[in-house]
Amino acid sequence: MRTQVAIIGAGPAGLLLAHLLHRGGVDAVVLETRSQEYVAARIRAGILESSSVELLESVGLGSRLRAEGHEHRGIYLQMPGERHHLDFVDLAGRSVWVYGQTEVQKDLVAAATAVVHYEVSDVVLHESAVTFVDSAGVSQRLDVDAIAGCDGSFGVSRAAAAPEQQFERVYPYSWLGVLVDVAPSTDELIYAWHPDGFALHSMRSPTVSRLYLQVPNGTDVADWSDDRIWSALATRLGHGQDGWKLTPGPITDKSVLPMRSYVQTPMRSGRLFLAGDAAHIVPPTGAKGLNLAIADVALLSRALVALLRDGDARLADSYSDDALRRVWRCTHFSWWMTTMLHASGDPFDAQLQLSQLRWVTSSAAGATGLAENYAGLPIGF
Ligand code: APR
Ligand code: PHB
Repeated sequence: MRTQVAIIGAGPAGLLLAHLLHRGGVDAVVLETRSQEYVAARIRAGILESSSVELLESVGLGSRLRAEGHEHRGIYLQMPGERHHLDFVDLAGRSVWVYGQTEVQKDLVAAATAVVHYEVSDVVLHESAVTFVDSAGVSQRLDVDAIAGCDGSFGVSRAAAAPEQQFERVYPYSWLGVLVDVAPSTDELIYAWHPDGFALHSMRSPTVSRLYLQVPNGTDVADWSDDRIWSALATRLGHGQDGWKLTPGPITDKSVLPMRSYVQTPMRSGRLFLAGDAAHIVPPTGAKGLNLAIADVALLSRALVALLRDGDARLADSYSDDALRRVWRCTHFSWWMTTMLHASGDPFDAQLQLSQLRWVTSSAAGATGLAENYAGLPIGF
């Protein structure tokens, strides 16, 4: 078999890249180790920056997003006894959209612009070919001009890209996330600092809430009964404060997420280009993972179209540097949000966090910095 670009991984990065390349007249084939059902059902992030929304819309993937997604003007930042609204539209001229990654994934599958081989195994990247075993157990070889490594943090591309440098920060806490069949108790997301630990009230739709609690690393979900979860959420999110109520509901999913920052450079090695989680991981505070993946493939698709359709290598040559500028901005922002909001157990840290939160919630300069980063910088940043 032959195609211009082999895309490894059918997550949002891989499928969106395939869609963008198709629009640019470049052929691609996507290889995915999991089944289509497994990939579609994975619970992930749910917030899109305005530049992500604009990009999806500009390539024909925005209609359900606009109809079923929910635009938020900002977020609430909370400390015990005080809840402040930061209005990103007033502060930075941009909003964010609540639209689950599962929905983005469905829209990409429905667009059906990509040839995807699901349930492949033994994927091996070569200089200008990819070999794999297809779902029927047949060994295949795909000859290509370029390979896009979109196979996340456990894929094969990361190591194949021969990193010159790896940067990593592991945080001393995790998130316990629950998906709940109940209407959100808030109109916009609440990020709450609390001496017991951080809590976040997010949502997926008018009938589904997504909530998180900071928990110690190594936490076993079995130790967190539904009652214990609701009691901790009520305390940390301020149930009863100024008449606000947290409405509990049936928990349909419970999981523990580790928190990690990771960047590997460069994001290109020869004909192999990395995008999304394959090249970098951010902790979830600030919801940058999916947005970064979208921004990467926006740049990468332009670079590959220029290279393979027009014979112009300039954007391919600058891809790694161009992508890393935004990656480091989001890596800093996610680290900053994380360290500002999570209890470390150190009283000095706690006072610095509270002081920082007071500044962010009371100074126009502080609030605008957060708003600009959260609502997202333009794709070309
Ligand atoms: N060969 C082919 N596919 C593979 C291989 C492999 N060897 N290893 C992993 N994969 C697949 C995974 O099964 C997964 O479907 O690659 C895909 C990678 O998808 P994601 O992990 O979703 O990564 P990405 O597309 O970069 O995600 C973008 O959105 O919500 C966030 O956490 C998510 O930050 C990530 C972002
Ligand atoms: C989510 O809805 O899953 C979510 C929202 C905001 C975050 C992290 C996760 O900062």
